[in-house]
Formats: sequence, structure tokens, C-alpha cells
Amino acid sequence: MTHSTNQSWGGRFSEPTDAFVERFTASVNFDQRLALHDIRGSIAHATMLARVGVLSDAERDSIISGLEDIAKEIDAGDFPWSIALEDVHMNIEARLTDMIGVTGKKLHTGRSRNDQIATDIRLFLRDEIDSIDLELARLRHGLIELAARQADTIMPGFTHLQSAQPVTFGHHLLAWQEMITRDHERLRDCRRRVNIMPLGAAALAGTTYPVDRHVSADLLGFDRPADNSLDAVSDRDFAIEFTAFASMLLMHMSRMSEELVLWTSAQFDFIDLPDRFCTGSSIMPQKKNPDVPELVRGKTGRVYGHLMSLLTLMKSQPLAYNKDNQEDKEPLFDTVDTVKGALRAFADMIPAVEAKTDNMYEAARRGFSTATDLADYLVRKGVAFRDAHEIVGQSVAHGIQHGKDLAEMSLAELQQFSSSIDADVFEILTLEGSVAARNHIGGTAPDQVRAAAQRARESLATMTRQEV
Ligand code: ARG
Repeated sequence: MTHSTNQSWGGRFSEPTDAFVERFTASVNFDQRLALHDIRGSIAHATMLARVGVLSDAERDSIISGLEDIAKEIDAGDFPWSIALEDVHMNIEARLTDMIGVTGKKLHTGRSRNDQIATDIRLFLRDEIDSIDLELARLRHGLIELAARQADTIMPGFTHLQSAQPVTFGHHLLAWQEMITRDHERLRDCRRRVNIMPLGAAALAGTTYPVDRHVSADLLGFDRPADNSLDAVSDRDFAIEFTAFASMLLMHMSRMSEELVLWTSAQFDFIDLPDRFCTGSSIMPQKKNPDVPELVRGKTGRVYGHLMSLLTLMKSQPLAYNKDNQEDKEPLFDTVDTVKGALRAFADMIPAVEAKTDNMYEAARRGFSTATDLADYLVRKGVAFRDAHEIVGQSVAHGIQHGKDLAEMSLAELQQFSSSIDADVFEILTLEGSVAARNHIGGTAPDQVRAAAQRARESLATMTRQEV
């Protein structure tokens, strides 16, 4: 053979790869991010091979110490990455052979880059899931404690973004906390399916060597080896599932962001975000922009995009491995980075949100937000609900005409609309009375918010105590 071809698979080729094709098909520029997980997988593989007698103990030790040196080179930024070696796997294997000689060439016994890459991504994603898990817990903790501090704070609750009924700010924050809790549970569930080991599937059909896949699975902390070699090397549904989790999380965070942005506006003026989470305008000196929530809201788009990319990437792929799957990495990496960034920003920012409680209260007072309470009051006095609805509607129209809220009208004024109204009506027209009356599990009453915050603390503690 006279031509120089790729040293890993060049045997059957009679001419070198076209220079452009070499760049086009290479993945090392992005999959080098998996290097330390690749090394971890290789160390487990070599250990297992020695355990079953395919490698000698001396060969195993030489391979492992070579791989450890390579990990140090990579950490130090000294590793000579080469596009000609295509991907992270062949770069590391070639370097190992440079360093320890022919024994390095034995590492790939009984495996393929197909089960290797599938293993690397799962190891990588499992680590990232665990750090995202911690950030989710931190965000939930911040929401719960802020909610507990704001259990008595009254604000308008909205439907159609119109003032509807007064609620407590703590109750609103615990609604966010519920959303994030479900995302947290989805992530935990996703992890169970990520933590399955492809190694041993080899190229697609398994290997003729007497591998003990339980040994490598234990060494790598996987729950078990994958049951079917064809499935193990081909499916990326675990990455799609993670990206679906991420999409749902960012969707929720975009809703929180939207409200934070609205609330910091001069028109609402419900909260203040500390300056360190905001930026100014280069032309309008008065501006303080809520960049962090705006950017999180915007980043939702790229995560949805990655979900669509990965679904489409996997669609219609025949069994088993196809090169298409090389395209799974960049969307997955960017999803991980985006989620971590958004969560970090929110977990830092939420505890620092300052409620402008007077403004919230004033806004709840305007907008006839106790109208439903008045209708319920009339029903308790024997008026049919539909009639009560009509009476309150007329009272509100009167209020709009005279620029008065319900609680600001005199008894005589209110009695024009119904003789069932007595002096005790003013107890239920107050905002405090309105929220306190919704006093059941899931209701907005301050005591319920305190109880709900306590339950949330306990469920968070249970989840974080659980071994992940
Ligand atoms: N770079 C490849 C990927 O990311 C690794 C597996 C390649 N396998 C192969 N037979 N070409 O999917």
C-alpha cells in the first residue's frame, strides 16, 4: 500500500480521503468535549478486558497509565488534537499508541466507536444532569423561601392579563415552584433511561470476546448494560428526552421571565431587580433593563430548535448506527449549556427579587378585584348566583362611572343594587378578607401559602436526600 490513509481504518482504502471530505466528516472540533468521559470509558473497558483474560494485567496497567497521562495533557490544554484523526476516540487512541507503543492498539479489542460514542454521550449527559439537578434544587429553594417571606403580600391575580382576584405574592411564586418541581421530576426520570450502558454492543451485533458487561457497567456507575446491541448503538432517544425536559423547563422559565419583565416596568412597578442583574442603555440614560429574564425568554427558542433538530435527526434512521448521529452532539451540548446558564442566572437572581408591596397592594385595590367576593357574599345572603353576578356587574359599572372601587362606596350606594347588602359587606370587600377567605389546600390565603411552602420544603428535602 503506497498511499497514506487513516491509520484506524485505512487498510481497505487505496487513496487518501479528500481533504475537504476529511474536514467535512470530522467531529473532533466538537466531540473533544467528551474526552474525559471517553477516557473513563476506556479505562473501564481495559479493566474489564483484563478481568476476563483478554488483556494481561501488565497491558491493562500500561493502557490505564497512558490514558491517565493523556487526561492530564487534555486538562492542561497540551493535547495535540488532529482533524486527520477524525474524532475524539481516534485522537486519544493514536496518542495512547504514541505514548505506550503497540499495547495501545489492543485497547479497541471487543468494542467499536459505535458503542464507545453512545457510552461517552451517556456518561457526559449523566454528569450534566447531576449538576443541573443541583441548580434546579437551588432555584426551588430560592422560590420557596421568597414565597414564605411574601405569604402576606397582596397583589392582583390575573386572567387574560386583566385584574381578576387578589392573590398573595407568595402564592404566585409557589405556582412557579410547582412548575419547576415537575421539571425536576422529569429530569430525574430521564436520568434513569440515560444511565444504561451501551458498551459491549460493539459495532452493532455484540462481540466475540468473552466480555463481562456487568463489570464495565459497575465500574462506570451505570444501572445495567443495555439489553439489545442494535438498539444500544443506534437510538438517541435519551438525548431527545433530555432536550424535551429542557424545552419544558425553558418554557416555564420564559413564563417567569415574562412576568418579571412586566413587573419591573414603570407601568406595573411591582418588583425591583438588583442592578447586578440588569444593564443600562447606551442612549437612554434613565433605562435599567431586565436583561437576564429577557435573555432567558429568548434562549427558549434555541432549546426548542435543538429538540426539533434531534427529533428530525433520529427520524427514519434504519438500525443500527448511522453517521447521522454524529450530528447529535452540538444540539445536545448547546442545550446543556443553555439550561445551566439560565438556571444559574435564575437561582442567583430569584432570592434577590424585591417586592414593592405597596404598589402591588394599590394595583390589587384598583380593578374591582373583590367583585367575585361580593357575588359570593350575595349568594350567602340567599341571592341566586346569576342574579348576584348581575348585581355586582351594575355595582362595578357604577364604580367605573364615579371613579370608586367597591370598598370605597357607601353602604347606601351599594344598597341601590341589592337590598341584601348589609354593613358586614365591608369585611369581604377588603383585600385581606378576600385572600384570607380562600383558605383550603391550594388556595391563596396567607396561612395556606405558609403551609404550602412548608410542604414544598419537605418535598425538596426528600428529593435532594435521595441518592441520584
Ligand atoms: N464520531 C462518531 C459519532 O459521533 C463516532 C462513531 C463513529 N462510528 C463510525 N463507524 N464512523 O457518531
